[in-house]
Amino acid sequence: MLVYTIAEVRQKVREWKKAGLTIGLVPTMGALHDGHKSLITKSVSKCDKTIVSVFVNPIQFCAGEDLDKYPRTLNADNELCEQNGVDIVFAPSAKEMYGDDYTISHDYLTYVIPPSSYVNKLCGKSRIGHFDGVCTVVNKLFNIAEPDYAFFGEKDRQQLIVLQKMVKDLNIPLQIIPCPTVREESGLALSSRNKYLSAEDKENALALSKILFHIKDCYNNGVTDIKSLSAVADIYLNESHALEYLDFRDSDDLTEKQVADNKTIVFIALKIGDVRLIDNLALKD
Ligand code: PAJ
Repeated sequence: MLVYTIAEVRQKVREWKKAGLTIGLVPTMGALHDGHKSLITKSVSKCDKTIVSVFVNPIQFCAGEDLDKYPRTLNADNELCEQNGVDIVFAPSAKEMYGDDYTISHDYLTYVIPPSSYVNKLCGKSRIGHFDGVCTVVNKLFNIAEPDYAFFGEKDRQQLIVLQKMVKDLNIPLQIIPCPTVREESGLALSSRNKYLSAEDKENALALSKILFHIKDCYNNGVTDIKSLSAVADIYLNESHALEYLDFRDSDDLTEKQVADNKTIVFIALKIGDVRLIDNLALKD
């Protein structure tokens, strides 16, 4: 069922709660692909009722980012959800979520500011305010849908870690279920932004997963020195790549690793032309 208003979601949620049913929430920005689908399938199998939100959240985009051209495919998204047992697709307008103020910018609308030690690095370093916007909208969605479980992908691992911390620190009564990254056979992590890539760009985009899996191989063969592991990137990067970061971080609190270990996540971000792509991989199997 496609629903555009908060009131309609609340009404259904009240009915379900009254009947003692569990609710799963899958927050998305739409342009759904098999990565999103894996979260949906998990929620449908774990929970009595599943709500998928489809909302391109303006306050998590920074100036000059792709808010206007972000792919919007609501009909296809709704169809995918219907075919996969979703009970409600919640697709609010920005006005429904934020009122008239939404045009003003996230300075006026962000209430949930995550700790700087979690967001002053990796994607948060170049995307100032991005995680404030994510935490604020996800809080709103939690308050609207009152889920027992919320499903997030490891593809956006910094987002997942920040949201897990938020839920714990703010005593939000739900459980976050992390879901593994879904990849093409080539290794490329599925992303709505892959739609921006030409065939040649897509070939170049394979560098991300190749670097990560090669680093993991080296680690499994006993290499723990960060400098040596980082050097793997040189094998795959060419003039079409602008590397933003290749970082080795702790899986709990994102502190920088001096030596790789079983709690290390390798994070990578790079640009191919205007398209910014991210990926990450845990070194432990
Ligand atoms: P979006 O990029 O649409 O992603 C929605 C969810 O799908 C996120 O939890 C993301 O990690 C997960 N996901 C995306 N690609 C995936 C893949 N290849 N494998 C597994 N999971 C994948 O992330 C957002 O939207 C927004 O920031 C949001 C949380 C909805 C807040 O606006």
